[in-house]
Amino acid sequence: MLTTGHANNIIVVREGQEGNWKENGKIFNLTEFNDLVAFRSAVGSHFGVDAKNMKFMDVLGNQVFTFDEVRSKDIVVAAGGAVSTEAMKDNAESPVIPGPKGSLLWGNLYDVFPDPLNQVRALFKNFGPLVTVTLVGDKKVYTDDPKYVEIMAKESDVYCKKVQGALLEMKAVGGRGIFTTNGTDPDWQLGHKILMPAFSPKAIKAYAADMSHLADKCNQCFQQFADANEKVDIYRWMTNYTFETIGKTGFGYDFGLLEDKDKPIHPFVSGMAFCLAEGITRSKNPAVYKKLPLASNYRIEKEIKMMHSIVEDVIQKRKHMISRNEETPKDLLTFMLMEKTAEGKGMDDEMIRDQVLTMLIAGHETTSNTLSWALFELAQRPRIVETCLQEIVNVGIEDGVVPTDKQISELQYIERVIKETLRFHTPVRAISKQAQCDNVLPGGYKVNSGTNCIIALDAMHHNPDVWADPESFDPDRWLPEAESQRSLYSWLPFSIGPRGCIGRQFAIQEAKIGLAKFLRRFSFTALDPEKVSYNPNVITTAPVNMWMKVSPRTNLPKATNVQVISAGKPSAVQATVTALELKPQTVPFPPFTFLYGSNSGTSMDYANTLASKVKKLGATDVVISSLDDFLPLMNERFASSASSNEVIKHALIVVTATYNGTPPDNAEKFDVWMSNTNTLAAQPLAGIHFAVFGCGNKQWRTYQVFPSKMDHSLEALGGTRFVTPGAGDANDDIDGDFAGIFYNVSRINLLLSFKEFLHSLSSEWRSRFTNVVDDEADKKEATLTDGLTIKTIAPQHSEWKSARNTDSTYNSTILVNRELQNVAGSHRSTRHLEISVDKEYLPGDHLEVIPQNDPEIVDVIAQGLGLALDATFIPTEVDSASLASTRSVAASLSVGIPVTLRYLMVNRADLLGPPNRLFVSLFAKKLESIDSTAAEALKLVTSPNSKKEFELFVKKFRTILELMEAFPMVNDISLNEFLCCIPAMVPRRYSIASSPLVLKDRVSLAVGVVQDVDHEKKKTYWGQSSGFFYRVAGCENVRLSATVKSCKDTFRAPKDISTPLIMVCAGTGLAPFMGFLQDRQARNFIAPLAETHLFFGCRNEDDFIYQAELKEFEKQGVLTKAHIAFSRSNTGHKKYVQHLLMDEGVLLWNLMHERGGRLYVCGAAGGMAKDVRKALGKVAQQIGGIPETEVAAWLENCCVEDVWG
Ligand SMILES: Cc1cc2nc3c(=O)[nH]c(=O)nc-3n(C[C@H](O)[C@H](O)[C@H](O)COP(=O)(O)OP(=O)(O)OC[C@H]3O[C@@H](n4cnc5c(N)ncnc54)[C@H](O)[C@@H]3O)c2cc1C
Ligand code: HEM
Ligand SMILES: Cc1cc2nc3c(=O)[nH]c(=O)nc-3n(C[C@H](O)[C@H](O)[C@H](O)COP(=O)(O)O)c2cc1C
Repeated sequence: MLTTGHANNIIVVREGQEGNWKENGKIFNLTEFNDLVAFRSAVGSHFGVDAKNMKFMDVLGNQVFTFDEVRSKDIVVAAGGAVSTEAMKDNAESPVIPGPKGSLLWGNLYDVFPDPLNQVRALFKNFGPLVTVTLVGDKKVYTDDPKYVEIMAKESDVYCKKVQGALLEMKAVGGRGIFTTNGTDPDWQLGHKILMPAFSPKAIKAYAADMSHLADKCNQCFQQFADANEKVDIYRWMTNYTFETIGKTGFGYDFGLLEDKDKPIHPFVSGMAFCLAEGITRSKNPAVYKKLPLASNYRIEKEIKMMHSIVEDVIQKRKHMISRNEETPKDLLTFMLMEKTAEGKGMDDEMIRDQVLTMLIAGHETTSNTLSWALFELAQRPRIVETCLQEIVNVGIEDGVVPTDKQISELQYIERVIKETLRFHTPVRAISKQAQCDNVLPGGYKVNSGTNCIIALDAMHHNPDVWADPESFDPDRWLPEAESQRSLYSWLPFSIGPRGCIGRQFAIQEAKIGLAKFLRRFSFTALDPEKVSYNPNVITTAPVNMWMKVSPRTNLPKATNVQVISAGKPSAVQATVTALELKPQTVPFPPFTFLYGSNSGTSMDYANTLASKVKKLGATDVVISSLDDFLPLMNERFASSASSNEVIKHALIVVTATYNGTPPDNAEKFDVWMSNTNTLAAQPLAGIHFAVFGCGNKQWRTYQVFPSKMDHSLEALGGTRFVTPGAGDANDDIDGDFAGIFYNVSRINLLLSFKEFLHSLSSEWRSRFTNVVDDEADKKEATLTDGLTIKTIAPQHSEWKSARNTDSTYNSTILVNRELQNVAGSHRSTRHLEISVDKEYLPGDHLEVIPQNDPEIVDVIAQGLGLALDATFIPTEVDSASLASTRSVAASLSVGIPVTLRYLMVNRADLLGPPNRLFVSLFAKKLESIDSTAAEALKLVTSPNSKKEFELFVKKFRTILELMEAFPMVNDISLNEFLCCIPAMVPRRYSIASSPLVLKDRVSLAVGVVQDVDHEKKKTYWGQSSGFFYRVAGCENVRLSATVKSCKDTFRAPKDISTPLIMVCAGTGLAPFMGFLQDRQARNFIAPLAETHLFFGCRNEDDFIYQAELKEFEKQGVLTKAHIAFSRSNTGHKKYVQHLLMDEGVLLWNLMHERGGRLYVCGAAGGMAKDVRKALGKVAQQIGGIPETEVAAWLENCCVEDVWG
């Protein structure tokens, strides 16, 4: 995969290729350029376009103007910049592309023919990587250099495929099919769109059974040859196999080619072979040739008619079956007849016929070439055959049995043999791309608009500058590490980009199944190998004279559980690997314990994700728990590991959040335990390897305080840190932070388990091993809907009714909901709410509220996604370990409790927050078959290393609705998919603004309404929860779920009212202090009330909330003084609370230091709390004379905070 891998690197992709940056992107090292001009010029030269009018965009389409902005990106898109003819004229020094002289009459025809393979290779040897050749009056540019190929191959505004030459001749057969139409042709666009899904990995898996049956049938014919001791024309039989395969999977047709060894060639097959060969002949002759009264011209017409009539007949029969609702074969034809684009467009019969013929043209000969040449090379390389056989038996391929998807994917060595065959005997020797504008190639070579450029695939695959020892057949070139070191453009047997081969996976799967089955059953001996050559008169590298003897195999090796890697030269390494049985499943994993400290579920989700990852890798002893719940179990769990002889006795991974620097609720006991354990005497974690990932938020000055403490304590308790602690910032892209670390954690864990072993290996083998492990894990990656099973229930069912009784799920009622601000002046709103509660509370406590979504938004989302709101169902399985996220609505479901989707969407789903990665992945999945470019782009933003892209993405698509508006074609999400991907509503907390001594069975809240205005989009985004309170303002007796939660003990108002009290806040931070004041008012008679000061920041009089109430407190003497700071005062006097604190420094020092007063701070964490601390620090230093080094401790002692982000 293409990653920048280095902070100074950037991926640049050409406009139009954004969706496929992995294939088409180019990495540049930014340290090599001083400024944007130099960078732009290098990019221009790389892409072969003039840099002058080129601009850069980010992945979301915003222009990037400065070099600094470029530096801040991981990927940029280079847009525009095609060279004008004028610019080319200016460049007088352009070198001429060399080439052979050629004759007046024939041009260079005889420099290329009659042996195009060897003659073209020789041209490059003589003239270098760019050669001009004139064929039939057409001046072409040939190349064998990946550097130029990268520019030409991938379809852009500069180079693209144009149907001409031999391909144009093939149009006589392929007609309006996608192989023989131009990309701008609506036929290609429609065909490509409809056919893509039929070649998706999932669709191709479904063809495995047919491929396997046909390979078995081919084996039966081979058996007849063996019994009769007759030689086999391998190419003909491989063609029989591939023709039948595409016939069967394409349109359910059986040509009968594999019935028995003497079956004559089907007229369809010979007809098509004739047409294809004739196409090449026509392309080498002047246009008039086709018009001559030649037998070949009559025959071509006759053959095409015959093929058309066979296919048309099949189409009509199939349409008949469909119209009678009969069961139809699940093949390409049924698919083409049924499938429509999102706009409702389908293919007409003629086009379908042409697509069927196209698949037959493009899909049979290329694969039969590959299989024939593979068998030919293997016949001469017994070591490679032995390795293939070992893999075949290890994987468990059997005669007459359809291999499973897993088995097919495990045939990795065989895949390498196939890839090497595609290099060594490239089936499609060359592809052609036409320059769409005048342009300059690297090196300054001018190419005029309209020039046909030939990418000489075969020559490139034998280019000694690209391949070490290119004339040796070596499947080890395809070991992952070796492959990753080569340019992506150095091997293109299937071409690349939108006009690349649609059947690539189909062909590879077919070849893997075929080769494994043929090799398992027979040994192949090449007869007269020196006489084998290729046919230059067909478009593919078809073998000639390839005769072989097939003998039933008698020497199958015994299966081992060793992964086959190489036919191998490095025997020492091979031996080590063999001895250690390098299969992820056999890795002796240590026990794993995943612990979390989490209030709102993020850390728990991450711990779960990690746990399920190691389980999928094969670990069996895995425990996951909250830190506090684990405490009583710890001794037993760790003691059992102590006696282990493994290098890693036990791996402990802690994921924890922090709240105002203190542990989350379910980590408090653990914190006490680790703080109080005498680490010198007891080393309870000796032998345990640990890693810590902290969830925090940089808005808090106490960012990551508790996770850091955890990390240090675990080490002090005897544990061994095996990876530097990871940190995620919830104010940024915390999921992205986690994804980055997560891969490292899982990888390092595994590496560690094999520390000693890995150290004994070379770095090459070390990385090879990790690739195996990672690949394996990824292959087993869960689907989006794993872990949730539901059963829908019908209206007649008794539970259907109970699911509708939603009122019973609410425990509270909104009793008062009134405005606190002067909205006419402030244009903002703060609601005073009174809500009934069923639990006792104390001043300072919080109320946790579950907000409800606007039913209108619920309707729009459900309709857009194709969800039935009144679907009623019972969850029958909710396995949080298998769910893609434990922060999804699915994770919140209770097994056996009936529920409606409407209820869940109103109460449980976060419909207003930014779409999370899972939801975006779901969209990407849905788009795969509709708009692959969009799907790729969405996959890109959700990939682990695309933190920045994701950040930009959610800026653009702030809500799920905006995502839906951008991709309205995603309109059929299943209930399970929705539940598993949509994030659960996070409850909101509010400081209680009352005292139970004044309000008993109800609490009051002061809720500031979030109204985020995006001026660019001209949109207002309402806060999920505060918007809910605002929306229901006029409604009576609104029911909701609300629970009292206690605040940290430190934030309680002083019990003794004779303790001086200083309260500092801004905005709705006043809320708890309203409770404190009510409490002091109610208890005023108990003891003399000490001085009570409030420092309160507002913008101006308009948002001065609870003004009357505060005045009343002052009047009653409950509040000594309300010090109000207006930051946007109409009188021009602008102050923040910290300024008032400084003004009243002497008073503060006196109250706090001399009279034991307590100071409380409440409000948003962002700026205020930090500034207040700074101001207090100055007071302590300047008035109290406290040394700077002691200020922090002093503040810790007398100042408490309850701040929120
Ligand atoms: C202990 C505690 C006590 C609290 N006490 C009070 C209190 O007394 N009074 C009070 O008013 N609040 C209080 N809060 C804050 C309160 O819990 C909520 O955070 C607040 O009401 C906003 O919630 P919301 O659902 O309305 O907004 P949200 O929907 O959560 O939005 C919050 C912010 O995120 C932004 N945002 C949301 N989605 C996106 C997006 N896709 N892209 C960019 N930005 C986005 C919003 O514009 C907004 O600025 C307290 C919080 C805590 C933790
Ligand atoms: C080893 C086997 C194969 C090889 C080497 C191969 C190679 C190629 C190449 C090089 C192209 C690009 C041609 C060009 O630029 O003009 C191509 C296109 C194509 N291939 Fe294949 N192919 C193989 C198998 C298949 C199979 C099995 C199918 C169908 C089942 C198939 C269907 C197509 C189609 C439809 C196109 C045209 C795509 C388009 O232009 O939109 N190919 N193939
Ligand atoms: C009231 C409150 C206080 C917080 N205090 C801190 C803090 O002191 N330091 C910090 O790094 N993050 C702080 N955070 C951020 C959380 O730790 C962060 O959102 C984390 O992702 C929550 O993880 P959880 O969902 O597992 O509880 C605070 C969040 C809230 C709501």
